[in-house]
Amino acid sequence: MSNEWGPLSGLIGEWESDSGGLDTAFSHSKGEVLGSPYREKCTMKPFGPVDNGSQSLYGLDYKSAMWRWDEENPFHTEVGYWLWDAATGEVMKGFVVPRGIVVLAGGTAGTDATSFTLKASLDDPQYSIGENKYLAKNASSRSYVLNVTTNGDTWSYDEVTVLRMNEFDEPFSHTDHNTLRLVG
Ligand code: HEM
Repeated sequence: MSNEWGPLSGLIGEWESDSGGLDTAFSHSKGEVLGSPYREKCTMKPFGPVDNGSQSLYGLDYKSAMWRWDEENPFHTEVGYWLWDAATGEVMKGFVVPRGIVVLAGGTAGTDATSFTLKASLDDPQYSIGENKYLAKNASSRSYVLNVTTNGDTWSYDEVTVLRMNEFDEPFSHTDHNTLRLVG
């Protein structure tokens, strides 16, 4: 495949993991911070170009779902787009978390980069986080940092979402990491 997708080309495909993912979050049902192993399925379908005037973007149509143990329903899902602007080296991931959160995270990377970092924060004018009124009051997502590494038939991510939660005086780091292998 041509490299129109730049550093995103290593993410194209269908991906899965066994229960090697690890989530750290405050569990309301248990009343404590829990580390939850999870398994994951993810599809990334290439599209493009999308033109904004003189800007030309190539992207991936993205869906992922994560399951705890052998539960039937996923405990987290995301839908969105990854985008690449070859002229500026800008990489973006725009996605929705169905708790009522939208994120546009961004960063820069070289065309052949196999690792890159994307960031968003609540008050950034470009790479921002939108959230519903309940979350703004009770569990607000202040910032999001995502590290991605691609490696041929696997890719890995490591992400930290810093939350302001009513349960804690200090900001709480909600973290997730996983490695997925190519299945299609
Ligand atoms: C692999 C990725 C993720 C997984 C597996 C995951 C999973 C979870 C879990 C298990 C909880 C605790 C729910 C509970 O038991 O009360 C939680 C809470 C939360 N997550 Fe995530 N999460 C992920 C990514 C994200 C991202 C990227 C954001 C935002 C940018 C986010 C925002 C939140 C918020 C705001 C809460 C707090 C809800 C509350 O306390 O009422 N999460 N998440």
